[in-house]
Amino acid sequence: ALLAPGERPLAGKHVLVTAGPTHEPIDPVRYIANRSSGRQGFAIAAAAAKAGARVTLVHGPVAIPLPAGVTAVGVETARAMLAAVEAALPADIAIFSAAVADWRPATEASGKIKKDGSGQVAPLTMTENPDILATIGHRTSGRPGFVVGFAAETDALLDHARAKLARKGADLIVANDVSPGSGIMGGTENEVVLVTDDGADRWPRLGKDEVASRLIDWIAGRITP
Ligand code: CTP
Ligand code: CA
Repeated sequence: ALLAPGERPLAGKHVLVTAGPTHEPIDPVRYIANRSSGRQGFAIAAAAAKAGARVTLVHGPVAIPLPAGVTAVGVETARAMLAAVEAALPADIAIFSAAVADWRPATEASGKIKKDGSGQVAPLTMTENPDILATIGHRTSGRPGFVVGFAAETDALLDHARAKLARKGADLIVANDVSPGSGIMGGTENEVVLVTDDGADRWPRLGKDEVASRLIDWIAGRITP
């Protein structure tokens, strides 16, 4: 059921949310990033605040307004996002909706890299970023009581989501199909499947605000008071 007006099931709880992309610098004028508007994560932070929680929203560079009533921490890179998450802990609930860049340039050039016009491959070596969700999900002490990850996939949605649930130490994976043509990326609607150890729960296509409030309601019903 959706929250009745005035109901504050997360009063006294600290909810940590990551949202948006990260930007990984190549040189002073270029970066690598994932596509992410930040809308779903921002809506989740707003819904958690509305449910009475104290909310810390750690977000990458986005072009949408901050939700009211949350503590926002803006970062650029995956490494800065992990540091901000660790600084914000402890939390009762952590929801990792950020589209973190999986790789970053191994070195950031201090000056603009010049192309030489020869048509050769770019002079870039990439290295893996820390996995923020897995780092926190597998923590043995100081782990938030309920850890939520997202899985944006273009194929084999449920298989990938189940694998991520285990690999990342999450209690819940919110999976969504972001195939080109799904209209999800950058849009205002989302169609998600909630994957836990108990199975999969497919929700209809809903506005991102509606997904957010139902998700907060769903989590509130599963955490111990
Ligand atoms: N995530 C994270 N830190 C990363 C990569 C991902 O915290 N460096 C989180 C995302 O915020 C999301 C979940 O992990 O909640 C799944 O992200 P996704 O990109 O779907 O998974 P990956 O493990 O990176 O696998 P792949 O991109 O190869 O599908
Ligand atoms: Ca990824």
